[in-house]
Amino acid sequence: MRLFPWSEQLAIDVGTAHVHVAVKGEGVVVREPSTVAFSDGGHQPVAVGEEARQLWDWNVSEVKVVRPIRAGVVADFDGAVMMLRRFIRQALGHRPLFSPAVVVAHPATATGVELQALRHSLAAAGAGQMTMVQKPLAAGLGAGLPLHSEESYLVIDIGAGATDIGVFSNGLVTAGHTVRYGGDDLDEALVRAVRRRRGLRITRSAAEHIKQQTGSVDRSPNPAVVPVDDVITVEEKQHLDSYDIDIAWVPQVLTEAFQPLIEELDWIIANLPDSSRRQVERGGMVLTGGCALLRGLDELFRERLQLPVAVAPDPLSCTILGLEAILNDLGALSLNGRRFGTNNL
Ligand SMILES: Nc1ncnc2c1ncn2[C@@H]1O[C@H](COP(=O)(O)OP(=O)(O)OP(=O)(O)O)[C@@H](O)[C@H]1O
Ligand SMILES: [Mg+2]
Repeated sequence: MRLFPWSEQLAIDVGTAHVHVAVKGEGVVVREPSTVAFSDGGHQPVAVGEEARQLWDWNVSEVKVVRPIRAGVVADFDGAVMMLRRFIRQALGHRPLFSPAVVVAHPATATGVELQALRHSLAAAGAGQMTMVQKPLAAGLGAGLPLHSEESYLVIDIGAGATDIGVFSNGLVTAGHTVRYGGDDLDEALVRAVRRRRGLRITRSAAEHIKQQTGSVDRSPNPAVVPVDDVITVEEKQHLDSYDIDIAWVPQVLTEAFQPLIEELDWIIANLPDSSRRQVERGGMVLTGGCALLRGLDELFRERLQLPVAVAPDPLSCTILGLEAILNDLGALSLNGRRFGTNNL
């Protein structure tokens, strides 16, 4: 069965930190940071994606770098349109831009206005017919959860700006929640901790670097120091007596930073209908999204929430892989009574 017989078919995951685009039959062809750079006062982008992210890291004064998506929703409409237009063109290569049909993931509890903004920005970027899919469904499919099974699993997609949660059962998602808490909040917790402990102002990119290179929430030995070259600016270095930042405390700070999310998850699980909660207690939870890569996170969730926990293979790609599965095998999913191809926003 072909859903969109007249044009190219794309799947797009528009995230706070990353945009992924897959082309039907070709797989994932674009993986780029969600960033756009404008020259000071200019309205045309000077760089998009990885190039723009590097300008952000270098803190070039004549360039304004924006992340147009926040917590999975459009925060800067013009920036989002320019970024999406570039990535759609990149995905299509030399093929003409003829209103490609798009399957796109949206936060589990996006409001009507947020969905409209996502839709309008994609349309302005050149997309044609649109199919909106809840993120936990896409992430669950991309994590390889079975389409036909009586078991239920809690899918927890922890991205940069938000955590999307849903009960995945038989190719359907129920009890969807979006908690506006993700990797960006962990970075901010690290920025605050370095300021408190060393009196240093590090950038959020530096904090993200510490988190990704050495961060964990487990108690196993970590490298005890990170070279300052990696995380702070030249001016700040002048005030330093030592050229390393002690980071043995990072697991503790990250563990504490996860507390609001753990409390929210606890509340969501406690409020599931009895039958659904019992099924989730058997099936457990599957972690997807970039933050699932943090060492020891599965252990922390298992201990605090008393449920089986698995980390999906390739957590950064789960959502786009699930969207691609929907592009490729719509028939199998429609069998479950779900209607894709909705244009009803
Ligand atoms: N190895 C790693 N260890 C820890 N965190 C990581 C690692 N790799 C990526 N991350 C974090 O994962 C987050 C990005 O994840 P992801 O790409 O899934 O987010 P997103 O889909 O863009 O955001 P959202 O879904 O919230 O809109 C960032 O906060 C990043 O720092
Ligand atoms: Mg995401």
